[in-house]
Amino acid sequence: GLVNTREMFAKAMAGKYAIPAYNFSDMEQLQAILTACADTGSPVILQVSKGARSYAHETLLRHMVQGALQMIREKGSQIPVALHLDHGDSYELCVACIESGFSSVMIDGSHLPYEENVALTRKVVEFAHRFEVTVEGELGVLAGIEDEVSAEHSTYTNPEQVEDFVKKTGVDSLAISIGTSHGAYKFRLAPGEEVPPLRFDILEECERRIPGFPIVLHGASSVVQEYVEMINSFGGKMDNAVGIPEEQLRRAAASAVCKINIDSDGRLAFTAKIREHLAKNPQEFDPRKYLGEARSEFAKLVRHKNEAVLGSAGRV
Ligand code: G3H
Ligand code: 13P
Ligand code: NA
Ligand code: ZN
Repeated sequence: GLVNTREMFAKAMAGKYAIPAYNFSDMEQLQAILTACADTGSPVILQVSKGARSYAHETLLRHMVQGALQMIREKGSQIPVALHLDHGDSYELCVACIESGFSSVMIDGSHLPYEENVALTRKVVEFAHRFEVTVEGELGVLAGIEDEVSAEHSTYTNPEQVEDFVKKTGVDSLAISIGTSHGAYKFRLAPGEEVPPLRFDILEECERRIPGFPIVLHGASSVVQEYVEMINSFGGKMDNAVGIPEEQLRRAAASAVCKINIDSDGRLAFTAKIREHLAKNPQEFDPRKYLGEARSEFAKLVRHKNEAVLGSAGRV
C-alpha cells in the first residue's frame, strides 16, 4: 500500500538526496510518474493539488492511485509511494483527504499571521497523526512573478521562526521560501541576465536551527528550455519562461531538503509533445497517439530528475 513520508525522509536525510514529489491530475501523468520511478528504483511522492483533486474526482482518484500502485507491484516494483495533498488550504480539506486514503498532507498556512499558521497546522497534525499520516507545513511565502523579493520586503522564510514552529506544531516536514516560485515564469530577467541564485544562506540558517529536520522545496521546476522551445515552435507562446538551474537543485538535494516539488516541468513535457505530435500529424485524432507520446516524454523527464538531479534513483 501507500506509506507516509517519515521513513523516506529519514533515508533521504542520511543519504543526502531528495525525494521527488510530482504533481499529477490524470491517468497518463500518473502512469508516467509511477512507471518511471519503478524503472529507476526511486521512492516517490504522488502529489495532488486541491484543483487536481476536483478535476480527477476524489473517488476516481483514490481508485486510480490504488490501481496504478497495483500495476507496478505486479511488475515486481517495491518502491515506497506516498499520496500527498499539495497546498491544503483548510483543516476540512486535509481531513477529507486523510479519510479518502492520502498518506500525507500539506497544510499551507504560510499566508496567515504566524500564530494562526501555528494553530491551524497544529490542528491538522493532531488529526493526521492519529492515522499515521504525515504533515508538511510552510513558513515564508513563495514569490509570485509580480512580487519584489528583496531584503527589505522579504517573504523569505525567517529562520528565527522555524524552531518554534516545528516545536509548537509537531509537523513532520517544513516548506521554506528561499527564492523559488510556482509556475513557468519564475524570474523576470533582463536580456543576458542570469537566474539569481537561491538563498542557500537562509537554508543553511534553517538547517542550523532545526538540525536533521526534513525541509521541502516548492516551485522547483527547472522549466526545461528544450520543452519551452518545442512549445514555441509548434504554435505555443511562452515568452521568458525560466526556472531553477539543475545545479542549484542538486545542491539543495544534498542538503536537509528532503522533498523537491515538480509540477511545471511535467506539464511542459506533456504539452510540448502534444503540440509537436498534432503539428506533425494534422490528420491524427486518436488521443492515445498524442497522449501516449506525452506520457513517454513525461516518464523520460522523471527518470532524468531521479537519476541526475535529485539522486533518488536506486534508493529503495
Ligand atoms: O503549487 C501548485 C501546484 O503546481 C498545483 O497547481 O493548483 O494548478 O493544480 P494547480
Ligand atoms: P513548480 O511550478 O516549479 O513545478 O512547483 C510545483 C510545486 O511547488 C507544487 O507544490
Ligand atoms: Na536532501
Ligand atoms: Zn507548491
